Parts: sequence; structure tokens; C-alpha cells
Amino acid sequence: MSSENADNQTTKSEPQAFVEQLISQMSLPEKVGQMTQLTNTSLQIDPDINPDGSPGDTFGLDAERVEELVSTYHVGSFLNGIAIPAEDWIVFMKELQEICIREHRLGIPIIYGIDHMHGASYLEGGTIFPHRSNLGATFTPEFSREEGRIIGLESSHLGHHWVFAPVLDVGRNPRFPRFYETYSEEQLLCGQMGAAFIRGLTEQTSHTAYRQASCAKHFVGYSVPNSGWDRSPATISDLDLYNHFLPPFQAAIEAGVHTFMVNGGDINGVPVHASRRLLTDILRGYLGFSGVVVTDWEDVIRLHTVHKVVESPKEAVRVAIEAGIDISMTPFDTEFCDYLIELVEEGKISERRIDESVARILHLKVDLGLFQQPFPSSENLNKIGLSSSRRVARQAALESIVLLKNKSSLPISPDSGKVIVSGPLANMKRALAGGWTLRWIPDTDRYFPEKMDTVWTALEYQFGERATLVESGTELFATAEDTLVIVVGEEPYSEGSGNNYDARLPEDQVDWVRKAQATGAKVVLLILGGRPQIITEIEAGCDAVIWAGLPGFEGASAIADLISGRENFSGKLPFSYPAQTGHFYTYDHKLMDLGHYQEFQPTKTLLAPFGYGLSYSSFQYSHLSLSADHCSKDETIKAEVTVTNTGEKAGKETVLWFIRDEYASYTPALRKLKHYEKREIQPGESQKYSIEINPSKHLGFFDEHGTEMLEVGEFTLIVDELEAKFTLNS
Ligand code: GLC
Repeated sequence: MSSENADNQTTKSEPQAFVEQLISQMSLPEKVGQMTQLTNTSLQIDPDINPDGSPGDTFGLDAERVEELVSTYHVGSFLNGIAIPAEDWIVFMKELQEICIREHRLGIPIIYGIDHMHGASYLEGGTIFPHRSNLGATFTPEFSREEGRIIGLESSHLGHHWVFAPVLDVGRNPRFPRFYETYSEEQLLCGQMGAAFIRGLTEQTSHTAYRQASCAKHFVGYSVPNSGWDRSPATISDLDLYNHFLPPFQAAIEAGVHTFMVNGGDINGVPVHASRRLLTDILRGYLGFSGVVVTDWEDVIRLHTVHKVVESPKEAVRVAIEAGIDISMTPFDTEFCDYLIELVEEGKISERRIDESVARILHLKVDLGLFQQPFPSSENLNKIGLSSSRRVARQAALESIVLLKNKSSLPISPDSGKVIVSGPLANMKRALAGGWTLRWIPDTDRYFPEKMDTVWTALEYQFGERATLVESGTELFATAEDTLVIVVGEEPYSEGSGNNYDARLPEDQVDWVRKAQATGAKVVLLILGGRPQIITEIEAGCDAVIWAGLPGFEGASAIADLISGRENFSGKLPFSYPAQTGHFYTYDHKLMDLGHYQEFQPTKTLLAPFGYGLSYSSFQYSHLSLSADHCSKDETIKAEVTVTNTGEKAGKETVLWFIRDEYASYTPALRKLKHYEKREIQPGESQKYSIEINPSKHLGFFDEHGTEMLEVGEFTLIVDELEAKFTLNS
């Protein structure tokens, strides 16, 4: 029975039997073809390919090339693309799938992967959300769930079967160029935001024929390269692996993530793509994942060409398969197929091992309904870029922007002085969206939406005649009544293109801010970009500092509404913002991270700590209380705190609940986030927030073997400046 006559009943009700039957009919080359994924530029007619291999602006299918790839190599998966109109995606995917099913002896449909990294970012007209570090700053997983839902709404009918998201790497090194793709330095926030995304994507498409697969990436330890450069070696203790880096992936599995993508770097001298311990013993044994594992870009051959752990490309294939990968994103050639077939024929890889991967891949295609409905449809075209979707993205942007300092300039008064907007990113659309937007690296604004605001156009709309734009490098005139909004930061980059040498704001931008400060006007520094650049040398001279990160297509209008006071700030940093190039620590640091000689403590080395964010309101915390000052391991303690809005504006406040384990078998963190909750509080209103302290959930940790530890002793609950001690008894 080929898959073509796989009626709905068979694949739906007996997927196991269907998959086993299909595998029994497949030749070895056909099985290996299912384990192969090629990039779309290898399918295009004279594609306008960029030097890095990413697609250029053309998008025409080379039918003969596809026929050859499928009839000869039985390739089962393709990926990648650029933002083209939905109609063009439908034409491309329909033709591609028709050829693939026609040319495949058993008619097995292909699965197509795409990097919709912050909304449907490779779809013209798609709703573009803030990037993940902004979503982390909202401390609201609902925004992440909505992002998943809206990606599904806008892209599931286009043949985009497999969304290579969420990124679940933990952002504990602010030098890392993909820092903006991480939700936070705190694994609890990463896991909850990522799980929400997975649920949103799955919920949206679970009831339609067009289901989509999510992808937890990049497993594991990708975000903490020793040098800070992309894919460079990382040193991670097993203690940190189990306590910081595995938990978000565990949360993804519990949320039903379909697939995993592997970290292309190496940990402690072992490339992750060659690590059976990580990809099989831990991912499948310890975490219990049973789905498809796909390599990252070209990462099998890189075991030979880059990591130098094997002496031939063929040995790289053997090692990666033995480690536990299911699909190789080769992504340019079919050598992977040739080598893998040879390895099986030589008895170096068992066909049973191949069947394991093929079964996972076919089950994924069955789960997504690809055997019943392999072709795209135009039925959802009217759901792309809905104003309701854009409103969600805008609210997420609003709640993701963090006010770090405000002496007196914000909100800008409605009736006095000019609003002079300047800085290299003041009138730049792509600076608001960052990498993975419409292109891998958007290096021009020309393909950004015509109507998309820049910070300048949004402020001009807000302040009318009072607003003027001063291009960097021209003369800057202002008086004490005026407000200067200087927009600084980084232009878009992705992956290694973001590797750099200096954590500080570039010299030319620092000089321009100093020029602004010399005018005597109030300077509002607005920071855009993918990671927290150091601004210490100009911070004192700024009246206000706003971190806006990468707030997406709706970000500029959100920024303008916050600066004008029409909206109130509520974002809090999901990471620690460094102040010095020579020292950095995360919020859950240990006492000894700050040195033993406290009296010699140098100047503070953070500009602002994790969880910091100001508001136009002011919130007072009081009455922290515990239902008991001790409990046993199977009891709980209820904690309550009162938060009062002592300001004059309604505002949203995120209460962050931390716990410190006073003494532990491993050096304990000074505090660890255990829960967070965000609510709006009216002026003068007091609200009670609470947490049910559950020892197994809130007081434990993992030892270096991944064994859960729960040790009796003293603990301290920390909320804002308040603390309350309690004891865990045996
Ligand atoms: C890239 C990235 C990964 C992405 C993949 C496909 O190298 O590391 O995040 O999903 O290739 O584009």
C-alpha cells in the first residue's frame, strides 16, 4: 500500500500500522532520503543566492532539479526562504509538493521547515512580534502563546509545515550574537515562555488539516560560548547543564514540542552533533523526548571540516547517526545520502537504526496530516496581518520596553519645547526588527512594509510640528526646554554575523550622544538592538534611558506612546544589563561572584539588574507574610505580599518571587526566581499577590548527575526589598 492510497482512516486511526507498513516497502535509499533536508536555494532556477548561501530575491522553482533530487535521492524535506507574498508561497509549495509526491515511488509527501522566528517573519505582510528577549521582558507567557497562534493562523496553509521555533537557549552571555533570540537568563522564564509558544502554535492548527510542527532549539548549551562568539566552544559543568540549560527543553517536551534542533557548537570539547550522551542518553533517556531530531545547518559535515573530531565526511555521518540525529540539514548536497547508504551496506550502521529515524519522521508527517492534506490552500489568505493580530504584537511591544532611568524628561510634556529626534537608528525600520526578519539578515529597509513606522515617524505623528529629525553628523541645536531623543544601538545581524569585539556602544554613537548632552537639552537615550550594549560612559548625562531591544513592526508606535505618556511602561529586564566590559554576572550569582572582600567592592558592574524596570506609576511593597515559618517536604507555605500603586497613573506591575537557599551542598545562588505574576493596579489601589511555596517545586535543585535534591534547612523568600525566612524540616 503506498501512501497515496493511505485513506484518512488508516493514517489517523492506526498510524503505527501505517508507518510500519510503509517502512516495510521502502528501499534503503528511500529511507535515507527521508533523513535528508535540503535548502530551498538548491531548488531554484538560477537563484540569486547570497554569499552566505541564504536565498536572494528570486524564488522560482527548478522543477527538473526537484525531480532529480526526489527520483534519485528521495529527499523528504526542504527548508528556508524569504518573505514573499502568501500567494507566491502557495504556488511554490504546491508545485514543489506535487513534484515530490509524483516523483516519489511511494508518494511520500515532503515536510518543509521555515524560520518564523518572531511572528511569520518569512511571509510578506506577516505580523512581526518583538523578538524573544523583548517577550521575556513582558513576563507574560500569553504573548508568546499568541505569537505561536498567530504564526499558525498566518502560515499553516502555505505549506510551512515545520516552524523552527521556539529558541530555548538561556541568555546567560550578553556577548552572544543570538542573545535577542533567548527569552531570558533565567531558565524558568525561558521554559514557560517557550512552552506557551508551542501550545499556541499547536492549538491554532490542531483543529485544522494544516497542522504545524514546533522545534525546540538549539539543544543544548548553545547560548554560552566561552568567547561570546556564535558556535564557538562552550564549557558547561553538568551542574549547570541540569540546573540552567536542560529545564527549558524539559518544559518544551511537557508542552508537546514535535521536534528538536541541535546546537552546532561544542560543549567541553565534544560537538553536540557527535554526543550520544546528549542526543540519546539525556535527550531521549533522561528528558524522555521521542520525536524527530534535526541537525542544524551543515552540522554533520562540520564534525569533519570544523570540529575536526572525525577524519572524513563519511565518518562524520556515522558519528552523527550513532549520536542520535534523525534528519541532516545537509543543506546543499546529497553526499549525506551516499555516505549513509554505504555505511549501512558496510554494516557500520544497522538498518534497524535507520528504521528508528524513518519511523519518527513518518510519524511526524502523519501527525501533521501531510498524507491526507499535503498541499497548501488559499483559504486563510484573509487571516494574514489582521489588525487584531497586529494589536497583540503591539501590546507585546508596549509591555516589553523597559524604562531604566527617568529623572524628569518623561513623559514629554504636551506643551513645551521641541522634540528633536536623532541618532543612527532614529529613522531605520530594520533596526526595530533585527535578524530573521523578511530575510536572514535584513540589510536594507526597501522590503519592509511601506506603512511601518520608524521611531522618527512615530514621534512625528505623536508631536506634529514640535518634532524634528536631525540626521547624525549634521549640526544639533537645542535649548533647555527641548527634549532630544537619541536612538542608538545595533543594526540587524544573525548568528555569526553578529560576532563582535566590543560590548560598548560604538564610539561614533557615544560622541553623538555627548554632542546632544552639550546642548543643555534633556537627553532621552533610546536603545535598540539584539543585546545590551554598555552605555555607562554616557548614562550619567542622560535624563532618561529606555531599553527597547527589538520590539518588532509595531515597536515604534509603542515607543512613541510610552514617551508621550499615552501608555505606561511595564517591562522589566529579563537579563542583567552589564555596565563594564571587564566584569559581568547574572542575577542568580553567588556570594563569591562579587568577591570575598566586600569592602573592596569596585563600582557596580551592572547598569541595571534582572527584573528592573521603572514605570510612570510607583509601587510600594508591604505586608509580606507567611502562613508558617517552617514546613516538611510534603507541606506547603502560603506567602502573601501587598503591592500599592502610590502613583497617579494606572500601571502594570510584575511581582517577582525569589527564594534563597541559605546553605546547600553546592554553592547556592543569592536568589533564584520561583514565580512571577503581572497585574494592572489603579492609582491608590492595593492588591495582594501570593505564592504557594511547594518544597519539591520551589526548593530543590539537581546534582551533577541530574538527580533532584531537596535539602532541609533555612530558606529566605525575597520579594522586592522584603524578605521572610522559613525552614524546611525533614
Ligand atoms: C541556522 C540556525 C537555526 C535555523 C537553521 C535553518 O543556522 O542556527 O536556528 O533554524 O539554520 O535556517
